[in-house]
Amino acid sequence: MRISERLEALGAGVFARMDRRKQVYAASADSLERPLIDLSLGSTDLQPPPAVLEVFAEALREPASAAYCLQAGTLPFREAVAAWVQRRFGVQVDPHREVLLLVGSQEGTAHLPLALLNPGDGALVLDPCYPSHAGGVLLAGGRLRRLSLQADQGWRPDWQQLSAADWQQLRLLVFGFPHNPTATVGAQDCLEEALALTRRHGLVLAHDNPYVDLALEGEAPALLRCPHWREGGIEFFSLSKAWCLGGFRLAFAVGAAPLIEALARVKAVVDFNQSLALQAGAAAALRDWPDWPQRLLPTYRARRELMGAALGRAGWTVPLPGMALYHWLPLPPSLRAMGSEEACSQLLQRSGVALTPGVGFGQAGEGWLRLALVREEPVLLEAARRLAAVTGC
Ligand SMILES: Cc1ncc(COP(=O)(O)O)c(C=O)c1O
Repeated sequence: MRISERLEALGAGVFARMDRRKQVYAASADSLERPLIDLSLGSTDLQPPPAVLEVFAEALREPASAAYCLQAGTLPFREAVAAWVQRRFGVQVDPHREVLLLVGSQEGTAHLPLALLNPGDGALVLDPCYPSHAGGVLLAGGRLRRLSLQADQGWRPDWQQLSAADWQQLRLLVFGFPHNPTATVGAQDCLEEALALTRRHGLVLAHDNPYVDLALEGEAPALLRCPHWREGGIEFFSLSKAWCLGGFRLAFAVGAAPLIEALARVKAVVDFNQSLALQAGAAAALRDWPDWPQRLLPTYRARRELMGAALGRAGWTVPLPGMALYHWLPLPPSLRAMGSEEACSQLLQRSGVALTPGVGFGQAGEGWLRLALVREEPVLLEAARRLAAVTGC
């Protein structure tokens, strides 16, 4: 049997590769002595607002929640999004034409290229970037161009890497600050600059922004605060991180009406939206608990300090992450030569701690590891102790 060349180009994906390694570790004798500590996924252990879970539970009993939900049925949710956008950014958006419900923002960024690219059209992603950004372009048969981010430039894009001829080949820029995996908050002026460039060269700018409410330092940028966002802009938000609802797969896009319509047409082929019960809970979260993300920040800040100090004492270099959820760490000296993929494999086998290899987010992530602050403090301390022991620091 043959699979498509596109799928070949996609490879296994960093989270799938780590998933297999974690499964092998969990089945090994070592895991009895040292249970797996999984810090390889941005899947938080913190909880959603209990009242939102109540809304889900109540709404699940409604017969309509079991039915397919076509686009028209999502209007109450889209209205809740429009009200949140108004409160959060002071921007009025049309819930009929400028808002779209998504089955996770990953789904939205992965499907968008299908709506915009013809085979061979160029799309620019950051390197490193969240895997669905590059994956969506490859699935759509687009030509992927990567813009390397560098630590010594504070992970800020250097547009000089692109010539006028390069820009002409491009149809889409997928951008995203606060930035996963580098844990950099980014800046509004940098996003404004990206939008100015995409407008000048006639590209669409897709801004993936699931961490907009999770900056620990400074203020997160937002496309919706750029005055010209309707000129080729679309922004993706998620309830996964800020309301701790990752497993429920609830997110939304807000953007220029033609982009929302195009993405909705792709989705009409692919899915019938989330259940009305899930939409009801998501709407309640946005309406009644808009400050939930702020309540999470002290916990993430404390975890960041604790883990940073513990790894620092063990000799690791620990840059201060500007956003919640992640540390982005240069490989410690004893692991540097083997590269991040092998380093994660070895760390898992020898310590039972799962981290994510930086190279899984793109070649510019080589030499780095991502550690997610998604366990309680004693577990994080135990992870730091085990990592220190096996890296000989
Ligand atoms: C930048 C970025 N985009 C999207 C996602 C996925 O979010 P969702 O759960 O909404 O699909 C993540 C998850 O880690 C992410 O870091």
